[in-house]
Amino acid sequence: MSTYHLKNSDDYQTAYQNSINDPIDFWANIAKNNFDWHKPWDTVFDWHQDTAKIQWFKGGRLNITENLLDRHLAQRGQSTALIFEPNDPSEPHECITYQALYLRVNKMANVLKSQGVKKGDRVCIYLPMIPELAISVLACAKIGAVHSVVFGGFSATALATRINDCDCRLVITSDGGFRGAKIIDLKDIVDEALEACPGVATVLVVERIKTKIRMKEGRDQWLAPLFNAASDQCQATSMEAEDPLFILYTSGSTGKPKGMVHSCGGYMVYTAYTFKNVFQYQPDDVYWCTADIGWITGHSYIIYGPLANGATSLMFEGVPSYPDFGRFWAIIQKHKVHQFYTAPTAIRALAKESLDFVRPYDLSSLKVLGSVGEPINEEAWQWYSDHIGKGTTPVVDTWWQTETGGIMIAPLPGITKTIPTYATLPMPGIEPVLLDENGHLLEGATQGFLYIKHPWPSIARTIWGDHDRYKATYFPKFKDKYMTGDGALRDAAGNYRITGRTDDVIIVSGHNLGTAPIEDAINEHPLVAESAIVGQPHQIKGNSLFGFITLKDEPTPETEAVLHKAINELITKRIGAIAKLNEMIFCPGLPKTRSGKIMRRILRNIANGTTDQLGDTSTLLNPEVVDQIIRLAKK
Ligand code: WTA
Repeated sequence: MSTYHLKNSDDYQTAYQNSINDPIDFWANIAKNNFDWHKPWDTVFDWHQDTAKIQWFKGGRLNITENLLDRHLAQRGQSTALIFEPNDPSEPHECITYQALYLRVNKMANVLKSQGVKKGDRVCIYLPMIPELAISVLACAKIGAVHSVVFGGFSATALATRINDCDCRLVITSDGGFRGAKIIDLKDIVDEALEACPGVATVLVVERIKTKIRMKEGRDQWLAPLFNAASDQCQATSMEAEDPLFILYTSGSTGKPKGMVHSCGGYMVYTAYTFKNVFQYQPDDVYWCTADIGWITGHSYIIYGPLANGATSLMFEGVPSYPDFGRFWAIIQKHKVHQFYTAPTAIRALAKESLDFVRPYDLSSLKVLGSVGEPINEEAWQWYSDHIGKGTTPVVDTWWQTETGGIMIAPLPGITKTIPTYATLPMPGIEPVLLDENGHLLEGATQGFLYIKHPWPSIARTIWGDHDRYKATYFPKFKDKYMTGDGALRDAAGNYRITGRTDDVIIVSGHNLGTAPIEDAINEHPLVAESAIVGQPHQIKGNSLFGFITLKDEPTPETEAVLHKAINELITKRIGAIAKLNEMIFCPGLPKTRSGKIMRRILRNIANGTTDQLGDTSTLLNPEVVDQIIRLAKK
């Protein structure tokens, strides 16, 4: 028997040992005893290393929404499933019970069916953080449609790329969204995107901001009349455990974004299990994750993991700074939040403000503080622990990825030790290893490239439409180890500290940004010859983007000023404002190897002001540009 809820350190040790000695038995037990299946699986685990094909609970049948909603109705139908806290604090919040959510998901599922959506079809969801976002996600899952949620901060071009990549025929959006003092015109962005998406036949529009928008005849429909007319009863579609549940795009170091595919069975089991244990969720606790559902954190730990446990999950439409920097703390007090899960970038931004924004609020309900998305620096960890946790609430630094589906390395609050800046110990079923650059296994206290030894149930199964890329990205050197792309340090007690990306992905305010698409956007400018982006440490964002750009003609101060603006506009249009450059310099050339590869390491040193660590540059094709760039960067 595997224990679902780990209550003490012995539970953790036993579960961990069992899970590593016999992962198949371990996960089979968890899956069988804690979830509803239509049909048991034929094979717990199947792995073809040559093709990187991984399957869990093969042949098992289920519908994930029955595990998220239906099975709680008898006992907890009147308990709150979702709390919606609007952007504007004077607008009333909404509590949606399990029973109400169940009925609303049924209605939405029937709307989708009436629009011809069938099992396996892809549906793009481009919505602000309003209840309809969670309801749309669950409605897709109910009828076996594959949701592809795109974060509302992405531009029209980025949205179009994602819609076309997985061939969505239907898009769910809203007339707009509120974000702090700003209004986001989501429908306008969708209209622009769809000019490049001939496959989209239907757009369902939720009314949120009540402005006048253009509705394209024959394509766009308001959701409300369809929703109101729909039946509130809907049969869940029986899914194979390995059928895709959703696609979520993440940046790669090269090329277009990767549509990570997660499947129904394993994802459900792993997100539910990790939610329960990492947050030590107890019935009637109020749990709040501040992420946007457009990212994996929102998928796994606002919707799927919490609801699978019958939890009350709060979703917040706004931003931490509106109407002032006390908003998070006001919400914690208002809803008596027990578990709070946010990102280091938010913590740093709030830590910079006066403690007068924290002091007025009663935060005594808090039992667990979580952090996710990027390494948390010691000051931020300490501030979070001291001022929000009052020195007693444990801080769990959780390391994981879009590709891992769920939390991989994290302390269990009150059970295992927390250490500032360390994600500490692996979850049961997760066996991290550190390798050197030649692929040799490193033992003991050391630092290296982080790999995971054995697939766990919620590992992404493929990249939509490009399994070769999946294999090449995640199993590039060793068929039997998943490559995370992160570096890590391990102490003598086996605690892990994540040191950051080892590839060309830069994490800015918790958002993963690949350098290649940003460089492509810059290079589109007719005056630009070439560009290279590197990360530069930033006090609040973790990293900011520094661009080294060469022009076709010698720059003048006037062209430089114009280009500064024009380049950031291009990036905003192609990707989104999140990818704007913080700094850019126009240089006579970029340092290259003799085979023509840009030496980003050198550029990184220049951006970081660590030019004393440049090493030998004489083997470069053009060593002279290095000094020139250093001079320009100092200006
Ligand atoms: C980074 C977010 C240090 C890491 C769930 C990873 C972290 C990437 C942590 C995945 C953490 C995430 N400490 N680094 N606690 N959590 N990262 O796909 O580089 O948006 O590879 O998933 O974020 O980001 P993603």
